Amino acid sequence: DAAEKGGYEHFMLKEIHEQPESLANAIRGRLDFNLGTSVLSGMGTSARDLSEIQRVVFLGCGTSLHAGLVGEYAFEDLADIHAEVQQAAEFRYRNPIISRSDLVVAISQSGETADTLAAVREANQKGAFVMGLCNVVGSTIARETGRGIYLHAGPEISVASTKAFTCQVAVMLMMALKLGRGRRFSREEGLKLAREIERIPELVERTIQQSDKIEKIAARYAEHEHAFFIGRGYLYPVALEGALKLKEISYIHAEGYHAAELKHGPIALLQKGTPVIALANDIAGKDKTLGNVEECRARGARILGVITEGDKEAAEFMDDFIEVPACHPLVATIPTAVALQLLSYHIARARGCEIDQPRNLAKSVTVE
Ligand code: G6P
Repeated sequence: DAAEKGGYEHFMLKEIHEQPESLANAIRGRLDFNLGTSVLSGMGTSARDLSEIQRVVFLGCGTSLHAGLVGEYAFEDLADIHAEVQQAAEFRYRNPIISRSDLVVAISQSGETADTLAAVREANQKGAFVMGLCNVVGSTIARETGRGIYLHAGPEISVASTKAFTCQVAVMLMMALKLGRGRRFSREEGLKLAREIERIPELVERTIQQSDKIEKIAARYAEHEHAFFIGRGYLYPVALEGALKLKEISYIHAEGYHAAELKHGPIALLQKGTPVIALANDIAGKDKTLGNVEECRARGARILGVITEGDKEAAEFMDDFIEVPACHPLVATIPTAVALQLLSYHIARARGCEIDQPRNLAKSVTVE
């Protein structure tokens, strides 16, 4: 067991630290710096077929659902295509409107999640163009979709997903780049994004280097029983994922909200010292998020910010802060998620939780 953990105390910590390598594997050979696009043969269609796609629907559960939400933003923004994420568990019960011009992307680390598999079967039978975004090679969803892209993240043992999430996001950015280049995205813009995607492993490495600092901050938040994660835009899905990670492994009641939504109800729960983790990277929407931080502070909340390295203005708003490197706003979702993984890990460890196998949870859920 100790050998398998490669010297780390838990699989989760090992997998967090593996991310620069996993991401490099997910990205390697998939960027084309000549055409300013990505090479994803797993998308399995000619440029002409891809141009016929009119909508993209992402399906997933848990952490994979949150990755899909990043995908929704990325595809609309970069690929100029209508995109949406749907809860896999709901898909076949809501009589979804799906047609042959829809690209349905089933996101599943394990490739075995029953809810996602059932959704794949429904999409297949409605004639959509279905593909899988799986980590486990040869898994049921990978086989039943017949086409797709593997993450190459390497085996993920910890129940709480870490490296699969960041690789899912990285691969979706490359998919959006490819689709975008077939539409309105220029070669120059494509090249710029490709260069930013190439930097992801290094950006994550720099975030991981702050683990000790994050551990010290975590000690200040470990005693609380409630926490809120807020973000907007691309960082909204990351706030949801941050909250999920914390509740999974530390058993702290954590809620992820759009930063603007907090004032429409949940703010009633804030008391003196309630932790609010605010994703306030220096990207579009930052000022509005800082405004929401002020609203929380006025109710006595303790604010932990995730901010862009060197952003003194944002730092002023925070009781504590974690810095992530400056990068493309969509790419920023990845180091920000890594910072929150480390935060959850260190909080759970300080609370003496099991971490790799939290109570009541399974790595893959094969019942609906
Ligand atoms: C389980 C796991 C989660 C995971 C979800 C979806 O609930 O505990 O960590 O995100 O299943 O798993 P998948 O393998 O489909 O990505």
